[in-house]
Amino acid sequence: MCGIIGVLSKDSVSERIFDGLSRLEYRGYDSAGIATIHDNSIHKRRSEGKLQSLKSILEKDPIQGYTGIGHTRWATHGSPTYHNAHPHTTDRVAVVHNGIIENYQTLKDNLIQNGVVFSSETDTEVVVHLIDQELRNGKTPELAVQKTLSQLEGAFALAIVFSQDPKILIGARRGSPLVVGIDENNLFLGSDAWALAPWTQKICYLEEDDVVVMKNDDVNFSYTIFSGEGKIVSRPLKNLNLATGAASKGVYSHFMLKEIFEQPQTLSDTFLALIDEKTFETRIELPIDFTKHHSRILLVACGSSYYASLTAKYWFEKYARIPCEVELASEFRYRDPVLTENDICIFVSQSGETSDTLAALNLAKAKNCSTLAIVNVPESSMARAADYCILTLAGPEIGVASTKAFTAQLAVLCVLGLKIAEQRACLDKQNLFEYFKELLHLPKLVTHVLQDVSVFDALGQRLSMASDILFIGRGTNYPVALEGALKLKEISYIHAEAYAAGELKHGPIALVDKTIPLIAISPNDNWFEKTSSNIQEVASRGAPIIMLTNDLEFTLDCRDFCKILLPKTGSLNNCFIYTVAMQCIAYYTALHKGTDVDQPRNLAKSVTVE
Ligand code: AGP
Repeated sequence: MCGIIGVLSKDSVSERIFDGLSRLEYRGYDSAGIATIHDNSIHKRRSEGKLQSLKSILEKDPIQGYTGIGHTRWATHGSPTYHNAHPHTTDRVAVVHNGIIENYQTLKDNLIQNGVVFSSETDTEVVVHLIDQELRNGKTPELAVQKTLSQLEGAFALAIVFSQDPKILIGARRGSPLVVGIDENNLFLGSDAWALAPWTQKICYLEEDDVVVMKNDDVNFSYTIFSGEGKIVSRPLKNLNLATGAASKGVYSHFMLKEIFEQPQTLSDTFLALIDEKTFETRIELPIDFTKHHSRILLVACGSSYYASLTAKYWFEKYARIPCEVELASEFRYRDPVLTENDICIFVSQSGETSDTLAALNLAKAKNCSTLAIVNVPESSMARAADYCILTLAGPEIGVASTKAFTAQLAVLCVLGLKIAEQRACLDKQNLFEYFKELLHLPKLVTHVLQDVSVFDALGQRLSMASDILFIGRGTNYPVALEGALKLKEISYIHAEAYAAGELKHGPIALVDKTIPLIAISPNDNWFEKTSSNIQEVASRGAPIIMLTNDLEFTLDCRDFCKILLPKTGSLNNCFIYTVAMQCIAYYTALHKGTDVDQPRNLAKSVTVE
């Protein structure tokens, strides 16, 4: 993970580097740091914890310089301490790094044998000392970096500055993304284009193993890109049109709450991009032929995006009658899956940068499968790598716990499933008309759920005392239960597990006692009777029961029963409604526990390391 920034300018850079880091903090917030070159020496400021602490340090003790680099860290090697915070430096060179140097221990042992003293536990520090040694031996910055890169195994995006060459900034990438930003008076490096967007929208994406050497010769700024083989290459320049406004919480106390409340709008935006509201027909042209004999869909994702994909399996198989498998990207990429040209692989990701999902995508491409990315970030690595891309229109999601991006993924997957059903002639026009009409009504239902959140607030207060919570659901509400448990774990740190309701009696019911609340998602659908029986089984063993349902009649004769009534919906819409309720439960539970809702411990928004 980690976010990196580099700036080569005619003006002072430290404020801009800090500003860029504020747009990259979603990638990690264990520590942060900045280094600039001034008067042929390296000046550095670092701090443990969030960017805000670095800000106070820079305010008290500013740094000058027209060339500099910055970093916001998600710790991999070495705990999140001051000494492990980037940039890592010697007198000659300063480096920031996103990724993992897998052979760092061997390199470190060799360096130690040669008398090098390390000041951190990071893998990154080997890069600094290797470059330093080459510089001492008289190599130019370009050659010192190239020589060093040839010794590294693993993944990296690097930004490097040099005390004796203050007008050079070098970037390099393998496995981790790195973007070059260009304008007349500055050159920039960033982990993503959004970080650079307020300064320039003229960018180029470095490709695997590229090294960029940026120079300011006092008249012009120039940059040269070298491929992994050391040849000068050109990469396409793009003029982007990315939003630049700083995201704000508005009237909400947290980004997560704001994003929960944005869902009527984000769902409406996503549906209206896909469905014509007058004719109730889809606007998407399917770029892939799903009718081919033997074709099968593989949905590949991580975390919440995986749970959105699990939900889609129910829709794809039920409506489009097409075999569908759902895969965790981190397992899929390493287990040598059987893939054929008939397979259609769909990669679901909010960020479009998740390392395992991206690697899975590249694997599917190498096996000649058709690839489709469903992502929330335009121009992300997956959006660019896949054969086709559909955007979820959730807008920037800042809270680490995914909310509006998850429901936007469900929205795209649901419409896609119906469109595939149409292509495969599994649903007639009238059926499709009814389903699309139902989906377009969803934003109103979500507004209704959010009209009065006091019930979730009260429940959150109670749940904040629990140390374990169980969730159950069936059908598309089984993945919703999984997502509900994940949300709760992420932001309240309460241990939570979700089960398909029918599985409970095959083991997990042994956990049940009066201290572990059960949250049951049970709309009055085809499975209602079955789930009701499962609820009874748990209640009779003394557990407190919280039932989310739209059934007015159901009652339970038990000591501790709380029923939360949600609106009646069609079969497609109900998992969206129950998801929103799960998000509210997690949010208010965390709020009452007093945890950091938007930036929970140990997490980062975008997981760009394995
Ligand atoms: C969601 O709340 C999580 N923070 C996490 O599970 C996330 O969904 C996962 O890391 C995948 O990210 P992506 O959608 O950006 O690929």
